[in-house]
Amino acid sequence: MINVAFYDTKPYDKPSFERYGEAHGVHFKYLETKLCEDTVDLAKGCDAVCVFVNDTVNANVIDRLYELGIKLIALRSAGYNNVDVKHAFGKLHVVHVPAYSPYAVAEHAMALMLTSVRRIHKAYNRTREFNFSLNGLTGFDLHGKTIGVIGTGKIGRIFIDICRGFGMKIIAYDPYPADGAGIEYVSLDELFAQSDVISLHCPLNDGTFHTINTDAIAKMKKGVVIVNTSRGALIDTEALLDGIKSRKIGAACLDVYEEEADIFFEDRSGHILDDDLLSRLISMPNVIVTSHQAFLTEEALGNIAETTVTNIRSCFDNDGYCDNELCYRCGNIEKCKSNRKAKCF
Ligand code: NAI
Repeated sequence: MINVAFYDTKPYDKPSFERYGEAHGVHFKYLETKLCEDTVDLAKGCDAVCVFVNDTVNANVIDRLYELGIKLIALRSAGYNNVDVKHAFGKLHVVHVPAYSPYAVAEHAMALMLTSVRRIHKAYNRTREFNFSLNGLTGFDLHGKTIGVIGTGKIGRIFIDICRGFGMKIIAYDPYPADGAGIEYVSLDELFAQSDVISLHCPLNDGTFHTINTDAIAKMKKGVVIVNTSRGALIDTEALLDGIKSRKIGAACLDVYEEEADIFFEDRSGHILDDDLLSRLISMPNVIVTSHQAFLTEEALGNIAETTVTNIRSCFDNDGYCDNELCYRCGNIEKCKSNRKAKCF
């Protein structure tokens, strides 16, 4: 039996992880707390830790996990910006779930976009109060509009296919264009200048931090709609708020927020929110916030649990080799991952 400390457990995690874990000899110790320097010792006696997007897996946490004899960090997410993979190299193997349902995230991005441009969030509240007025609910057709997609990986390409179905003109930016996908690639500046809607589907890293900032917003069309289902820090939130207040940005649809770690995934309805930026954003009629919900479908949860359990088993059964290891050996995680045929170290 492989024992795994499962941090930041939510009720919706358990059914699928219990099902796949029990069937494959993986026992999860469910912990409601997030992983951080104060909680790392809860993993004592386990073989691995299983973490999610807002667990802190920095150098100190990694060093302590190593001291505790933990062998593996199993991310149950695609993104891994919260893990210091470089520091883990040589100490702990790191695995992730590269794809569980790219459809879930792409469809959520479209759901946010439609909700926003057709004012469904406003209409829903009105009709519940028997207010059947249409004043202020005028939207716009997506057909014929230009969507700028930043990042054309698995999710970005599915999102593009959905947008094609709506008759939108698609332009994209990605430093590694997808050959043969029939996508018109443009520079980031051209994308900012031409897009009616901009949707972010790239990872968060040093090169993408605050991709949407004051300079970028200045280059955009007046009334642009910004959709972010990737990572909060791709957007400079203060710049976004300024853009909304100056009416440059027509609407923002945010499934992620740069300071979400201590806020999202919890019921804070009975509390005063300390985060003034988020409060201000939520108070805007043209901002929709969902709390990192894009991945949350039955299909995705089942796939996440199945792949995570397979990753864990594979690492312990195959002398450390796992297809989904985030390998730091050559200093380029993605490149290394695609070329590698052996374990990272
Ligand atoms: P992927 O790895 O298949 O695609 C990412 C794409 O971004 C690649 O084509 C890559 O070349 C591109 N890219 C890298 N640097 C870039 C840059 N500087 N500018 C533009 N593009 C760049 O990843 P996938 O599965 O499509 O996921 C995309 C992101 O979605 C993840 O990194 C994660 O942050 C986010 N995500 C959010 C979820 C949610 O629940 N809100 C769930 C799953 C993923």
